[in-house]
Amino acid sequence: MEILRTKVIDLLKKDAGEEVLAKGWVRTKRGNKEIAFIALNDGSTIKNVQIVVDKNAETEPVLARISTGTCIGVRGKLVESVGSGQAVEIRASEIEVYGECDPVRYPLQKKDTSFEYLRTVAHMRPRTNTFGAILRLRSQMAYAIHEYFHSKGFVYLHTPLITASDAEGAGNMFQVTTLDLENVPRNKKGKIDYAKDFFGKRTSLTVSGQLEGELGATALGEIYTFGPTFRAENSNTPRHLAEFWMIEPEMAFYDITENMDLAEDFIKHLVRYALENCRDDIQFLNDRYDPELVARLEGVINTEFVRLEYTEGIKILEAAAANGVQFEYPVFWGADLQSEHERYLVEKHFGKPVILTGYPKDIKAFYMKQNPDGKTVRAMDVLFPKIGEIIGGSEREADLGKLEARIDELGMSRTNLEWYVDTRRFGSCPHSGFGLGFERLLLFVTGMQNIRDVIPFPRTPKNAEF
Ligand code: 4AD
Ligand code: MG
Repeated sequence: MEILRTKVIDLLKKDAGEEVLAKGWVRTKRGNKEIAFIALNDGSTIKNVQIVVDKNAETEPVLARISTGTCIGVRGKLVESVGSGQAVEIRASEIEVYGECDPVRYPLQKKDTSFEYLRTVAHMRPRTNTFGAILRLRSQMAYAIHEYFHSKGFVYLHTPLITASDAEGAGNMFQVTTLDLENVPRNKKGKIDYAKDFFGKRTSLTVSGQLEGELGATALGEIYTFGPTFRAENSNTPRHLAEFWMIEPEMAFYDITENMDLAEDFIKHLVRYALENCRDDIQFLNDRYDPELVARLEGVINTEFVRLEYTEGIKILEAAAANGVQFEYPVFWGADLQSEHERYLVEKHFGKPVILTGYPKDIKAFYMKQNPDGKTVRAMDVLFPKIGEIIGGSEREADLGKLEARIDELGMSRTNLEWYVDTRRFGSCPHSGFGLGFERLLLFVTGMQNIRDVIPFPRTPKNAEF
């Protein structure tokens, strides 16, 4: 009689007695003269199921083909386990080898399993305990994000990946073109003739879905985007990717305080969700790499975030520098904060997450609402322990005249932004929003040190493998 495969996560919840079929990849094989023990993992959980095989003339040839990494199917009876660590195990009656795994050429020899090395073995990386845990967490977090916004009635808006506008105005965009780079068409003035390009103008991959998101919010009320974004900034740091995922909610009628309230509630919800639904994986990462992980996660959900003006933050940092704290980058009013400064405020000074507001307008994007002082804008950055900036957002400039003046002042081209400025011409409304870097969130939730290790296929300067 054929029986259906049961996933390991479900097997381990069953009572002894049932006949089952498990399929997966061998983690380890050990044993003695009479008996072999195989630890089998199928990716459904960090836990393995133990397979017990009697050694005899029938099983020996099959066992000889099995080593770490082999893909097998095992049929047998679920029995109570005598060994510690698991309630049940499988007494094998039939084993089928789907794919052998040459132990000599096996890419994961004990001597080199560093994260750097693993990034070069694309097929093995997700089969390790660590990346299994990370990839399951990543998937669960994505689900929790959709669930959160849907429960609040936000509309999921799909914003374009190819765009003609630079939302952040930082000029870090990857150009998208079908022009022949060996033979670029030129106009009479000798400039590249983008009219001949695919879209009839110069286009790039988006750095943010926000501008289009604002069009959604000023019609539907509350929207969010969740998609990949691309930045050609040459920052080779453990917190930057050239391709990363961002969640951008945008809400009509929210002021900066309501924006901060939402950001704080959102991120606490996600951390709580992880602790409640991904406990095995988090506990594994805690025990293996980061003994303070669980405590740090619990700390965030049980504390009120500090809300602080940028100007006050600078005073604290200046006082610290005066007292001998060494910063690599200088601190002064007007300076863009580096992650060392953000982490000093969060980890050393307050000991909890900080939402910094009222940034100088010159270090922030054109769309932020200008304060009456003429110097600052209603920006908000959420700063986290170990990470620094995890969220960036603001109340938006809703006044047409002020927005246009700012675009001109920054020397930005209005041609590709008129569709955006129109929202301020026809029924403008106060509104706010923010962007959460998905991989920064995952850095926090997993305790990993390098952002390349929380995304399946990282893209960074000089690196686009697989
Ligand atoms: O602060 P940023 O640049 O803000 C925006 O893009 C706004 N349009 C968001 C909005 O208001 N709707 O980016 C938002 C977040 C950062 O706080 C950070 O978490 C993440 O995106 N981020 C990156 N993550 C990984 N690699 C990079 N290169 C990142 N750049 C930003
Ligand atoms: Mg930012």
